[in-house]
Amino acid sequence: MRNPYVVGRWVSGQNHYGRQHVIDTLLNSPETEFWVVGTRRAGKTSLLHQLEHLTDREGCSWVPLIWDMQGCETSGDLSDELYMAVEDAHQRFEHCGVTVRRLAGLDATVILARLAESIGAAGKKLLLMADEVEVLLRIARSEPAWVTRLHAALSSGNQKTILTSTQLLANLNRLCVGNAHTPFLQNFNVIHLWKLEPEVAAALVEQRQSDEPLAVAPEIIAAILDHTNCNPYLIQYLCHRLYHEADGAFLGFARRTRPTSTRTTCWLGCSRLTYSTCRRCSARSCFCWQSAPGLRTIGSRVCWLTSQLRNSRRSCGGWSVLGRSVWRMDAGRLATYSSGNG
Ligand SMILES: Nc1ncnc2c1ncn2[C@@H]1O[C@H](COP(=O)(O)OP(=O)(O)OP(=O)(O)O)[C@@H](O)[C@H]1O
Ligand SMILES: [Mg+2]
Repeated sequence: MRNPYVVGRWVSGQNHYGRQHVIDTLLNSPETEFWVVGTRRAGKTSLLHQLEHLTDREGCSWVPLIWDMQGCETSGDLSDELYMAVEDAHQRFEHCGVTVRRLAGLDATVILARLAESIGAAGKKLLLMADEVEVLLRIARSEPAWVTRLHAALSSGNQKTILTSTQLLANLNRLCVGNAHTPFLQNFNVIHLWKLEPEVAAALVEQRQSDEPLAVAPEIIAAILDHTNCNPYLIQYLCHRLYHEADGAFLGFARRTRPTSTRTTCWLGCSRLTYSTCRRCSARSCFCWQSAPGLRTIGSRVCWLTSQLRNSRRSCGGWSVLGRSVWRMDAGRLATYSSGNG
């Protein structure tokens, strides 16, 4: 059975867990400007794609557009990127009377005004979602007047604007003043992306939204939530490593409701001890805990696993994606936020 956990790419639809309160606020509040702040890998891009997933349907009053600013260095880059985003989703805009090819080569501020106008005339509203907005910090230095114009376009009230970034974006307030000399982010309502609710985090571990949920023992779930601090990325990362593809289970703790295979392999190819023990003992379990008599409690087992992961990070750099500030090994506890996230 394919490993059901998604590590690294953004998730949406049934792979996206929780954030219901944030989603309700973003879609239903009469406010038109939001800034969603989260640490790296907090789920910012996933949230935007989930909003797109929820609103890109007939009968919905929003017309979603995700503007990925990552890698843009000039206003020209941003304008091109915005046009490409519109082109990628051209059908939803053409339904609203937008002639997409006429937007080619235009400045982003003009594209936004035209989109908002046509969509408004069709009785709907543009839901503009800009991701990785930190790029504006650099562009504000070289093109401050353009960033001020962009600020006006984003906060015109003709569309709903959602910006996502890390806390770094706050520096834009010092670098650049928006219209009427107000700080760029002054009128944006701030929403922090925290950890998942424990119940939602448990649902993620058990893949309850999937067609083939897993049954995971309550003490395993508790240990995973404790060691990941309910951070969705850390849960996915740890579960991805714990999950045993051939067995469709979590190291023999959790079984798929319908096991798909009886083949046995070691999930942690890097550990010779585990592998040889596995082969010597049961044909069913991929890991033999008897081989490690000190690891009697679930908590100590998860700690042991995470220390294996830490070792594999040392040898292959596998965890560098997490960034120093997100994870800190702390008295055997896997995930502790140094940034103050929940
Ligand atoms: N709501 C969620 N439900 C399930 N998994 C999630 C959720 N949000 C994030 N994840 C997990 O976190 C990973 C990173 O998510 P995402 O790319 O959306 O974060 P990000 O904040 O945009 O990251 P970056 O700072 O790198 O841009 C995903 O691959 C997935 O494993
Ligand atoms: Mg992202």
